[in-house]
Amino acid sequence: MAYHGLLHKYGSLLDLPTHTRPVSLLEGDTPLIPALNLAREMGGGFELFIKFEGLNPTGSFKDRGMTAAVSEALGRGATTVICASTGNTAASAAAYAARAGLKSIVLIPQGKVAAGKLAGALAYGAQVIQVDGSFDDALSLVALISEKHSICLVNSINPYRIEGQKTAAFEICDTLGSAPDWLCLPVGNAGNITSYWAGFKQYDELKSTGLPRVLGVQAAGAAPLVLGHPVDRPETVATAICIGRPARGEQALQAAEESRGRIIAATDEQILDMQRTLARLEGIWVEPASAAGLAGLAAEVGAARLEVRAKRIVAVCTGHGLKDPDIVTREMSSPKIVPPKLDALEEAIL
Ligand code: F0G
Repeated sequence: MAYHGLLHKYGSLLDLPTHTRPVSLLEGDTPLIPALNLAREMGGGFELFIKFEGLNPTGSFKDRGMTAAVSEALGRGATTVICASTGNTAASAAAYAARAGLKSIVLIPQGKVAAGKLAGALAYGAQVIQVDGSFDDALSLVALISEKHSICLVNSINPYRIEGQKTAAFEICDTLGSAPDWLCLPVGNAGNITSYWAGFKQYDELKSTGLPRVLGVQAAGAAPLVLGHPVDRPETVATAICIGRPARGEQALQAAEESRGRIIAATDEQILDMQRTLARLEGIWVEPASAAGLAGLAAEVGAARLEVRAKRIVAVCTGHGLKDPDIVTREMSSPKIVPPKLDALEEAIL
């Protein structure tokens, strides 16, 4: 059967107003890839799957929530959408707004957004404003301006974003036949963990698919939910989750508690190490933030803090490696140059 996007497939399960007018790039339906090599590397004895959300149309999971938020905005007669973003939300909002014929404005923290994300937002025609401050400052600003003017806010404070992002949990259950034992994922502004938990709970009530325990992972330099207080100057190489005051922090903590899971922090070194390991062992290249969930999982398993024997684990990898190529190339010496001669090539590679 032809695929028509998330609102077509799961719309009846999403709490969206009747005025919603679907705007889709055929997002979702992302693969759940078995990661046998990585599971073995972590000690083995369990099943590990990667939900590769970097394969969405704009390269991140944000497209799931954005199809819902922009469809609602369009149906309501909005003409402009706005968001604050560490980059992925910006690119997604810009793409869906373009498709809907809406104007998009995105606020990004100055100098802290990866090249592939900024390029995306510009290519899709967004008006990009850099804020001389953090993501949290930018989010406060867009919340204020969207209250004062008729501009539709499409950050995950917007409830329709959460509705759309629930579909990832539905897909996982549809593929596996039930919820996994554990779900691990990166946590930034905490919209995604909130959505997954809502989605799993809804599916369980409807289809008795069971509930996973949730392991949310923040970057150590931006870990307000682990520390128990806001972080004024968050710092991490995982720029996507460089957030000190998560808008849905309370709900993230609730998801962890209700699921008998937890929220932990991974260091930048652990995150970059996992990014490399995943690419080299499985051929799956994700941006740094997207490796945080797996980095946290590996640390917990390695320290025997998490019992995984015979368990089924799903790790959500939220964005594609192509979003942030500099992080890889800047640490590499540039590739060797040879003259166009067979003997020179033989000398270089054999
Ligand atoms: N992974 C990636 C690649 C992200 O871009 C984000 C958030 C997250 C994880 C965390 O998800 O915020 O729902 O907890 N990026 C937002 C943005 C903040 O502006 O693109 P969350």
